[in-house]
Amino acid sequence: MRVGIIGCGAIANIIVSRIVPENDDIFIKYFFDKDIEKAENLASFAKGVAVIDFEDMLNDVDLILECASPDSVKLLAPKILERGIDMIVMSIGAFMDKEFYNKAFKIAKDNNAHIHLPSGAIVGLDGIKAVADYGLKEITLITRKSPKSLGKDIDKKEVLFDGKASDAVKEFPLNINVAATISLACDRDINVKIIVDPNVDRNVHEITAKGDFGEFKTITMNHPCVANPKTSMLAAISAIKLLKSFNETITVGL
Ligand SMILES: NC(=O)c1ccc[n+]([C@@H]2O[C@H](COP(=O)([O-])OP(=O)(O)OC[C@H]3O[C@@H](n4cnc5c(N)ncnc54)[C@H](O)[C@@H]3O)[C@@H](O)[C@H]2O)c1
Repeated sequence: MRVGIIGCGAIANIIVSRIVPENDDIFIKYFFDKDIEKAENLASFAKGVAVIDFEDMLNDVDLILECASPDSVKLLAPKILERGIDMIVMSIGAFMDKEFYNKAFKIAKDNNAHIHLPSGAIVGLDGIKAVADYGLKEITLITRKSPKSLGKDIDKKEVLFDGKASDAVKEFPLNINVAATISLACDRDINVKIIVDPNVDRNVHEITAKGDFGEFKTITMNHPCVANPKTSMLAAISAIKLLKSFNETITVGL
């Protein structure tokens, strides 16, 4: 499988550093970033090619892995999907825009392309998907991050946001992919609380789901990436597992 990457920051660096030495069947060949130096650095490590125009990779890839920004998804995904190329999208918040969601869905469907949204920085998405159409009555997310992770200069605990995921994504576009992922998985605009807490050094996500099936709660306490404290290590690792899963014969879990 030949892969092109859009966005050569924290997540891309973790994925490439793990995939390149370990996998002969996943060839991460092309690298695009609005900062060409970042693309060149990663391309040099992976013995790949840095491109100035992202369309230069489209003739030679099976899949594009986006790890850049919600805006890049809205701008570039239609051109990728039109060519029938599959995508893994990390900037999941882009899909909370219903109009864009419908547009991307139609282009992908018409051109037999697939859009994969990894579970990212949380556990429990398997259960959420399973119960979404079978009596899920209530689902909430509480996210706790350090001031550094949220880009705030605050020395006491504070609730920064309490409302719907669709509004949280607008206020914290680079920080709340988790809320978007859960909302998309269960097709609901879920309730989200975002707390900045100087006493935490992890990115903590607490999900509670209740319904006819019973109840579950998951708590994920992520180490932030050194290169970007907004991003959790688990987000990058989940994309690595998703990439590898395309070659699996027996798949365990959803
Ligand atoms: N799904 C999840 O659970 C999850 C978790 C963490 C981060 N994310 C998202 O993944 C994305 C990448 O995260 P990161 O930590 O690697 O970020 P980062 O800031 O470390 O790297 C992003 C890179 O993308 C480049 N970039 C930004 N916009 C671009 C554009 N329009 N065209 C080309 N290049 C562009 C930047 O120059 C940068 O090098 C972000 O949108 C982030 O919100 C998702």
